[in-house]
Amino acid sequence: MTDNAIFVGESDADQYLLLKYANRHGLIAGATGTGKTVTLQTIAEGFSAFGVPVFMADVKGDLSGVSQAGGTNPKAVERAQQLKIEGYAGHAFPTIFWDLFGEKGHPIRTTVSEVGPVLMARLLQLNDTQEGVLNIVFKVADEQGLLLLDFKDLQAMLQWVAENASSLTTEFGNVSKQTIGTIQRALLTLDQQGGEGFFGEPALALADMMRCDPSGYGAINVLAADRLMQSPRLYATFLLWLLSELFETLPEVGDLDKPKFVFFFDEAHLLFDDAPKALLSRIEQVVRLIRSKGVGVYFISQNPLDIPETVLGQLANRVQHALRAFTPKDQKAVKVAAETFRPNKKFDAATTITELGVGEALVSFLDAKGVPEPVERCFIAPPRGRIGPAIDAERAAVIAASPLAGKYDKVVDRTSAYEVLTGRVSAGAQGTSPGEAAPAPSTPASGEALRRRGQYGSVPPTAPASSGPWGPRTSSPTSTQAPAPPPAAPPAEPASPRPEPRLKKAQTADPAPEPAPKPRSTGGRQPDSIGVTMAKAAGRSITTVVAREAAKAVFGKGKGASIGASVLRGVLGSILK
Ligand SMILES: Nc1ncnc2c1ncn2[C@@H]1O[C@H](COP(=O)(O)OP(=O)(O)OP(=O)(O)O)[C@@H](O)[C@H]1O
Ligand SMILES: [Mg+2]
Repeated sequence: MTDNAIFVGESDADQYLLLKYANRHGLIAGATGTGKTVTLQTIAEGFSAFGVPVFMADVKGDLSGVSQAGGTNPKAVERAQQLKIEGYAGHAFPTIFWDLFGEKGHPIRTTVSEVGPVLMARLLQLNDTQEGVLNIVFKVADEQGLLLLDFKDLQAMLQWVAENASSLTTEFGNVSKQTIGTIQRALLTLDQQGGEGFFGEPALALADMMRCDPSGYGAINVLAADRLMQSPRLYATFLLWLLSELFETLPEVGDLDKPKFVFFFDEAHLLFDDAPKALLSRIEQVVRLIRSKGVGVYFISQNPLDIPETVLGQLANRVQHALRAFTPKDQKAVKVAAETFRPNKKFDAATTITELGVGEALVSFLDAKGVPEPVERCFIAPPRGRIGPAIDAERAAVIAASPLAGKYDKVVDRTSAYEVLTGRVSAGAQGTSPGEAAPAPSTPASGEALRRRGQYGSVPPTAPASSGPWGPRTSSPTSTQAPAPPPAAPPAEPASPRPEPRLKKAQTADPAPEPAPKPRSTGGRQPDSIGVTMAKAAGRSITTVVAREAAKAVFGKGKGASIGASVLRGVLGSILK
């Protein structure tokens, strides 16, 4: 059992999370300071040690320590002795730092057309009328073959639509300049919150997250989320977008020996706060369906009541830390948490939940037959990475040694709507598809040396320390990456006048607008060619109309721009594809 399972802790017997059922999702809950983050770290390290890459948002900054060898923290050492973990030693895990703002990690970007009008409208807090106009803007861009990659593409497109409002109104329905003005102002607000940097290229290739280091450890992708949490809407929408991307991109694989990717969703209540019923059923649906794509989703929350029942019912692997029971609401939470477990005759779960110490939890995982084990009271195993944050210099060193160093740092600004509409197309700049040579994820090693007690007792990677956690670097990090951005063009022709409206005319930017199918069979994604991007954009427009109608039916009208609504629309978008 120890070679295909993560050792999570010990009660009377060892408690293991079986890798083959890790895609049956999970929950880590407990009051503040009870050990949730440390448990998450232990489990994430376990996945990594078995060659499973993971993604987690680092809300308080204290997960960054996973990139540094720990093993000396007195509490961790004491716990290792208590649990008699042989060979307990620190280990620095291969960490990839990400940051939407590009400050504490590699920037994460996606294109405006990837996000689509549905999610974009929710991000911009548009009402139904404004969202309708935004849909037209996306549709016109499609028809004109204009790529919407970054904010200035969207701005230029909005401007162009405003200038041609009367001819467009005939074809698409009312396009008012005032509404366009409102959308432009909303865009400015998101820009001021730092949202602008999230849109553009090179867009995130999921394959870059789903990789292993040379010794076979799965990458631990840590998203800096402290600043992001100040814009909870952006945080929740981004995580949902990422989940939807995984859902859309990964092929069906059925049940595997171990998951392909594990997604930890911290502060999960943000996803569900004020969420209407229909949204919950959609999230429930995605969570259910993503399982057969080899993805495990683990929610982390203080209170299990934060997670709606339909979702909670799907979280098969449970770790419940202590809860307080001061108020009636607290007591209800304790009761619910206790009732979600299969009872154990040895003790009363509800009483025990209030008595648990720090780093102690009630746990229940699926057994070899996929049946939940009776609840056990358990001491959680200590992580091998550092408990607590990495300092800035350590983080900077990890980022510099990352196999992705250089790949996402510079914005690649290829020809798209803005350049075409402002007459700044430079010859030869069309159709450049950056980063075609992005490396495929390396194959995990088979995990020899991972013998005793699951992930513990493994030998640290043999690569010399100076080469960094990802092994020796053979070439300049940028050599296999995206080409340098095209020079900030003096236009090939002297500044040409702004083009006349060219409704339904062939577009210069896309010589071969043949729709290409969205690649679904790869574990990750190469940056898209223009053809693929266009095909997706077209697909999203169709989806959007259906999704918008569905969302309207669900939410009625008005501004009710909750995170929940944006999420539903995004998820609807991906499901209806
Ligand atoms: N399994 C463990 N082994 C050893 N020490 C632990 C363990 N779990 C928790 N601790 C200790 O308890 C401290 C608090 O744990 P942790 O940060 O995980 O709590 P938390 O529930 O995430 O809190 P918050 O809700 O404030 O984020 C840790 O810094 C560590 O010292
Ligand atoms: Mg915590």
